[in-house]
Amino acid sequence: MNTKVTIAGVELKNPVMTASGTFGSGQEFSEMTDLNKLGAVVTKGVSSVPWPGNPTPRIAEVYGGMLNAIGLQNPGIDVFIERDIPFLQDYSCKKIVNVCGKTVEEYLAVVERLNDQPIDMMEINVSCPNVKEGALAFGQDARVLEDVTKKIKAVAKKPIIMKLSPNVTNIKEMGLAAEAGGANAVSLINTLMGMKIDINRKKFVLANKTGGFSGPAVKPVAVRMVYDVAHTVKIPVIGMGGIATAEDAIEFMMAGATAISVGTMNFVDPETTSKIADGIEQFMKDKGIEDINDIIGCVE
Ligand SMILES: Cc1cc2nc3c(=O)[nH]c(=O)nc-3n(C[C@H](O)[C@H](O)[C@H](O)COP(=O)(O)O)c2cc1C
Repeated sequence: MNTKVTIAGVELKNPVMTASGTFGSGQEFSEMTDLNKLGAVVTKGVSSVPWPGNPTPRIAEVYGGMLNAIGLQNPGIDVFIERDIPFLQDYSCKKIVNVCGKTVEEYLAVVERLNDQPIDMMEINVSCPNVKEGALAFGQDARVLEDVTKKIKAVAKKPIIMKLSPNVTNIKEMGLAAEAGGANAVSLINTLMGMKIDINRKKFVLANKTGGFSGPAVKPVAVRMVYDVAHTVKIPVIGMGGIATAEDAIEFMMAGATAISVGTMNFVDPETTSKIADGIEQFMKDKGIEDINDIIGCVE
């Protein structure tokens, strides 16, 4: 039975990955779940300098999921290289580093620092506000997305995954823009923009007013977007958004995802990812599937 999948020449032992920002770099989770069982760990977004994040409260529970406005708090690339990359070297999972920035130059600075590090791929979070062009996220304008992808590809020495924002009118156009810019793969979905109001206090629940909506409630939106992009571009698609079980993971793969990531559900059960890896194998046995690659995009 084969559970291996390949993205941009990088072979994952299985298609199960962690979603950026929900698993740190694996340090805390390694005490609760076996990182060696995962196809890849995708780390929390890292920027060229430390980011303090947004004021609190910055997370809230909603039906079927959560809102977060963490604001990409991170210690910056220097600490990340010194502390997080060495930690991951003890594990056999592939290492994918998620990169954030507020200008193209900031993205490029991080990519250049990561070029010679022992990591397998970089995932670029384009849901960050583009401060020089009116603060609309890089991933909300196809022209800007293609341009930032090209500039990153011109300096990157590792395969590049562009992580698409679902807060757009036409997700296929965004997949095509990333592909045209030379991306090796795309991943989706990032969080959907949401809001929650405390009606007793007549205040926003999050200090930031809005936050990213994630968790099982977003899954049908994510499956539809993964299907749309996977049937539009030729590069591999990594699917995520509300995955809680092996059945959810298989649904994304049948929609066209080569691999999948688990985000919010890590907070509910830190063993979700390894349980999903086991559940996929069980599903393959039950259905007599010899090669996991046979189910990718198989839905008609
Ligand atoms: C608390 C939290 C922090 C996140 N941080 C990041 C991040 O740093 N970079 C990124 O690209 N996505 C980030 N995301 C988005 C997730 O990686 C994922 O795309 C999204 O939550 C959908 O998957 P899920 O429904 O399984 O959580 C974050 C999500 C959450 C809930």
